[in-house]
Amino acid sequence: MPRMFVPGPVDVDEQVLRAQAQPMLPHRSREFESIFRRASEKAQALFFTGSRVYLTASSGTGLQEAAIRNLVGKRVLSCVNGAFADRWYEVALANGKQAEKLEFPWDKPVDPERVAEAVKKGNHEAVTIVHNETSTGLQNPVSEVAAAVCAIAPETLLLVDAVSSLGGAKIEMDAWGLDMVLTSSQKALALPPGLGLAAVSDRALGKAETVQDRGWYFDLLRMEKHRLKDSSPATPAMSLIFALDLQLDRILAEGLEARFARHAAMAARVQEWAEKRKFGVYAPPGFRSQTVTTLYNQHNWEISALNTFLMERGMRLANGYGPLKQRTFRIAHMGETRLSDINLLLEALEAYRP
Ligand SMILES: Cc1ncc(COP(=O)(O)O)c(C=O)c1O
Repeated sequence: MPRMFVPGPVDVDEQVLRAQAQPMLPHRSREFESIFRRASEKAQALFFTGSRVYLTASSGTGLQEAAIRNLVGKRVLSCVNGAFADRWYEVALANGKQAEKLEFPWDKPVDPERVAEAVKKGNHEAVTIVHNETSTGLQNPVSEVAAAVCAIAPETLLLVDAVSSLGGAKIEMDAWGLDMVLTSSQKALALPPGLGLAAVSDRALGKAETVQDRGWYFDLLRMEKHRLKDSSPATPAMSLIFALDLQLDRILAEGLEARFARHAAMAARVQEWAEKRKFGVYAPPGFRSQTVTTLYNQHNWEISALNTFLMERGMRLANGYGPLKQRTFRIAHMGETRLSDINLLLEALEAYRP
């Protein structure tokens, strides 16, 4: 299997790939409904929540839109310190909401006190924040932001994008007081792309009842009505749900704490190597991602040439994202990747002579 060190889509285990090849079922059959229910209930463990988890035939961006359309009447505060947080802000504007952008430098975490102050001033209904910025390899202090907002405006909803961290880093939805946590299948869950997962609190569903024009496809109240019958409003991504059902068994068999520790160990290995080889890590200490590291391209490597070299060895990493392209490059350490894979990649990088 080629080794993909790109932050999604990532390598998928053979068995999990094969699980998709099961014969189709009528989606309104008891057989399929029991798989749908089982998968969504098992997924609750990943979010550390007793709230429901919806499975959608979409990528993560669809769920960013769902969060905005359902949980924001008018005013939302978008915390932005990276490309995907900025996308969520754009999604809010594109859906006609009054979005206020609270910006931070991309190499700095979101500051909880500034968020709380902005919410106090702006009286926002919800705050959006990205847990793990895939563009920068920075992990935001979501629990601290949630606590600061709750202390000042407890009715404000906390909406969290965990697209590139859920399943690779611990996100405790209930303990942290989060209202919607969303992710997609192709990153730390190590599934093919095309499936969205979102955990939604009771309080968020209550809010949705007051919001007009929630749309149809991502209407959370419609999804909830169907979920109570172990189903979804539209045809689900059945093959992906077969794969999710098996992958959740594999993840839970590894053990969540062991899985998070494996991700942390890979991150530490890459980050130590980066410092030692004088690349430097883009995200500051204390806020570095467990699933992807963004390194300064200090040696001015041509990243496409580097990837040609790596691909001859069955590996591939990612260029920097957007404005960080070529100035940085990214090594993902998520999903099925093991420390031994990381060691192979670092050995290859040591051997690279441009
Ligand atoms: C943090 C983050 N949010 C959102 C997205 C968009 O997700 P998707 O491509 O699944 O729509 C990505 C994709 O890379 C991401 O990394």
